[in-house]
Amino acid sequence: MSVVAVIGAQWGDEGKGKIVDLLAEPADVVVRFSGGDNAGHTVVNQFGEFKLHLIPSGIFSTKAISVIGNGVVVNPRVLLDEMAALKKQGMATSRLFISDRAHLVMPYHILLDGLEEEARGGKAIGTTRKGIGPAFADKVARLGIRTSDLLDRDVFRERLSAILAHKNSILTKVYNARPLSEDDVYEEYCRYGEILAPHICDTTALLAKAMNDGKDILLEGAQGTLLDPDFGTYPYATSSSPMAGGGCLGAGIGPARLDKVLGVFKAYCTRVGGGPMPTELKDKVGNSIREVAHEYGTTTGRPRRCGWFDAVAARFSTRVNGFTHAVITRLDVLDTRPTLKICTGYELNGEKIDFFPASTTMLEKCQPIYEELPGWQTPISDIRDFSKLPPQSRRYLARLEELVACPISIISVGERREQTIFKKPVW
Ligand code: GDP
Ligand code: IMO
Ligand code: MG
Repeated sequence: MSVVAVIGAQWGDEGKGKIVDLLAEPADVVVRFSGGDNAGHTVVNQFGEFKLHLIPSGIFSTKAISVIGNGVVVNPRVLLDEMAALKKQGMATSRLFISDRAHLVMPYHILLDGLEEEARGGKAIGTTRKGIGPAFADKVARLGIRTSDLLDRDVFRERLSAILAHKNSILTKVYNARPLSEDDVYEEYCRYGEILAPHICDTTALLAKAMNDGKDILLEGAQGTLLDPDFGTYPYATSSSPMAGGGCLGAGIGPARLDKVLGVFKAYCTRVGGGPMPTELKDKVGNSIREVAHEYGTTTGRPRRCGWFDAVAARFSTRVNGFTHAVITRLDVLDTRPTLKICTGYELNGEKIDFFPASTTMLEKCQPIYEELPGWQTPISDIRDFSKLPPQSRRYLARLEELVACPISIISVGERREQTIFKKPVW
């Protein structure tokens, strides 16, 4: 039995979806444990191309059960659309289970996400506007509504009535916006509850049984460590923990059960939304990476900011997660580059630093210190054997491995499941 966590090690969109789809085939259970439909996970396999927001990327596995854990905030409308789209493409969703403790994204969360962003003006976070921040804020403020609340109409009515009165006064009095109708929200969410009821259960019991039966469990992270509310570039962060620790909490698994923690890194860096990114390239090289790699958001379609690999941030990510395996994705995107840069330190106020500062104001002032390596300038997407990679590309990987301080086990050289090189087995 193994419990393996797949964690975003940068600012999200590292290719977690591809890696989970790849590792899910032999797995027994795949659990999404954090975030909500702010996530966009792309999977390209023999069944087609899919963009998943809430459903675990293990849904294509022939035997695995898919779980949406307690740590996820669920927009039931998005979930039902996603289930319907998968069914239309011939995929079964009968083995999908949703934690009865998962919180719901309500219509006022989405409205407030937009209104709060507008109010931030030039300091906007650049959220996905899916209501994720307000939903997690309500969870800790004890103002949330959970999936289990939908299973009892009276309980739901009572809870909604009290909470919506409060939310409507914020909408009308703070933002001068229109209030929401309690009856409309009630009827809409009761309908969702009826359809989703067969999928809602105590998923921790299901996971405990799987572990006791010696099954293999995959925890699927959303977002990335540098967006974590504690360790990311706060306040330019998301609102739940995308990290390995968040995996235990968001799935309901004790930390001692975690066997392997995979940190997924892109071979360069991207970020979508606001906040500091020391290695961002606002020049021809950055634009060319964006176009070659189609770096546009899976959820919002926004152009992703592109830059060189930031080894300072990456090493920090390894430390706070305790990665046991590194996964490098999108190496093929660098195929045409004559040279490659890796940021090995920052210059701050004339001094060299090698740590990832807590302060975003400080991070904004950090200038990257680069090391330059030769490129390989040859296509690598058809290579499946590590030893067949061009020597320059092996040298680049060796340097990343050294700087990130974690052994590389998987190298991804294309979007498709089979475009993968295993340096070390995971299961
Ligand atoms: P996630 O949010 O971490 O699952 O990542 P996204 O799906 O948002 O973005 C990653 C993008 O990279 C997707 O379009 C994937 O299909 C694609 N991708 C993943 N691995 C590779 C790779 O090794 N090479 C290339 N060219 N594309 C990849
Ligand atoms: P996946 O799982 C990349 C970013 C948003 C914004 C910040 C806060 O696909 O890697 P939020 O809507 O969470 O309140 O937005 O976090 N963000 C992501 N960036 N990938 C994601 O998910 C993200 N989910 C949120 O762009 O900067
Ligand atoms: Mg994504």
